[in-house]
Amino acid sequence: MNVLILGSGGREHAFAWKISQSKNLQNLYIAPGNAGTANCGTNVNISVTDFEAIKNLVWEKDINLVLVGPEDPLVKGIHDYFLNDEVLKDIPVIGPKKDGAQLEGSKDFSKQFMQKHNVPTAAYATFTKDNLEEGYVFLEKLNPPFVLKADGLAAGKGVLIISDLQEAKTELKNMLVNSKFGNASAKVVIEEFLHGIELSVFVLTDGKNYKILPAAKDYKRIGVGDTGLNTGGMGAVSPVPFANEEFIKKVEEKVIKPTINGLNKEGIDYRGFIFIGLMNCNGEPCVIEYNCRMGDPETEVVIPRIESDFLDLLIGVGNQTLNTKEFLTTKQTATTVVMVSGGYPEEFEKGLVVDGLNNTNDSLIFHSGTKFNEEKIVTNGGRVFAITSFGNTINEAVNKSFKNAEIINYSNKYYRNDIGKDLINLK
Ligand code: AMP
Ligand code: GLY
Repeated sequence: MNVLILGSGGREHAFAWKISQSKNLQNLYIAPGNAGTANCGTNVNISVTDFEAIKNLVWEKDINLVLVGPEDPLVKGIHDYFLNDEVLKDIPVIGPKKDGAQLEGSKDFSKQFMQKHNVPTAAYATFTKDNLEEGYVFLEKLNPPFVLKADGLAAGKGVLIISDLQEAKTELKNMLVNSKFGNASAKVVIEEFLHGIELSVFVLTDGKNYKILPAAKDYKRIGVGDTGLNTGGMGAVSPVPFANEEFIKKVEEKVIKPTINGLNKEGIDYRGFIFIGLMNCNGEPCVIEYNCRMGDPETEVVIPRIESDFLDLLIGVGNQTLNTKEFLTTKQTATTVVMVSGGYPEEFEKGLVVDGLNNTNDSLIFHSGTKFNEEKIVTNGGRVFAITSFGNTINEAVNKSFKNAEIINYSNKYYRNDIGKDLINLK
């Protein structure tokens, strides 16, 4: 079959790398893709939210399945667009419709959903500019630090964690009245701060059946020792040592089953990934957030650990036969180290020439932000590569990633040299 992947990051390169190995695949297209995905299929330079251009491509190339990488086209309704189109309606789209994508697109919706379906999560309340004063009173009743979340998508920047009550009140006003995050902060969720260790669990569902994919831990801050600004993610490790079988069983019973049942009760036919951001609070899972897609860079460690035919699993999602599909994973540890461009997540340069790619060994080099400039590969984003390696231990895997991060060169490169180190002595 012919497959189209939408997106241009390391996540999409990992998808493309895996799908290109499928016995079911004929032709693979990636829109817009990057210099790495060009090795797995054909890149087509169209935007992930240009639905009409995507329709023309699907028609022209006789595409049989579309895998959506990022959240933006899902929240904007790409799946609904396909279902409402005579030509496209029978082509499976992997990723939820607008209704299901609200799990990520609206924090207020996802909190209401969790409360209604008994999914453990932090206590919360939602405010608008019309009840700002009540928001202040709610903050006064909470213990610091205070967690303020813009309701809508805010490019990963919409969550503020503030220790000072007065500052929290000021920021609440900034969000609601001064549109700090534009329309995304017209509503703000204020919630209780959760103490514990964070991890992510990924579920692939066809709406009725599900598979629990390997769990992963992401490293969000730019600086060594989890310091400095938040980023899209600087590295990841899978499996997560403290997420043992007993903990994952709890996640399945207390979070995954109520979530899938809740979607069914709401009449939401959800076909795609559910990314569950969790806090392990003294052995009990508590949901921080849902995303309606896979994580990046988590995908770069989760997908390589899947041994079964991934495209076959996606076909099962499309026609609701996921329960009949083989799903095997390796016990080996995978780590990924993200190489970024100096200055990221603030100002950084693009178009820097990359050297050394042919000298790496023993790692999978996923491209996050690269493109071709004539024959040369140049940087095209803040995050440039995700270097994934396997090992019997985190140390063994991550040392391979670090070694290759030294070999790949472009001016002002940076990576965190402590990925996975916090987990090495944890049980
Ligand atoms: P979110 O966009 O909801 O994932 O929030 C971004 C980050 O803020 C999360 O990955 C957590 O590290 C942190 N965070 C969000 N909500 C809470 C909470 N209730 N308690 C503690 N940390 C939180
Ligand atoms: N790595 C976090 C995310 O993809 O949202």
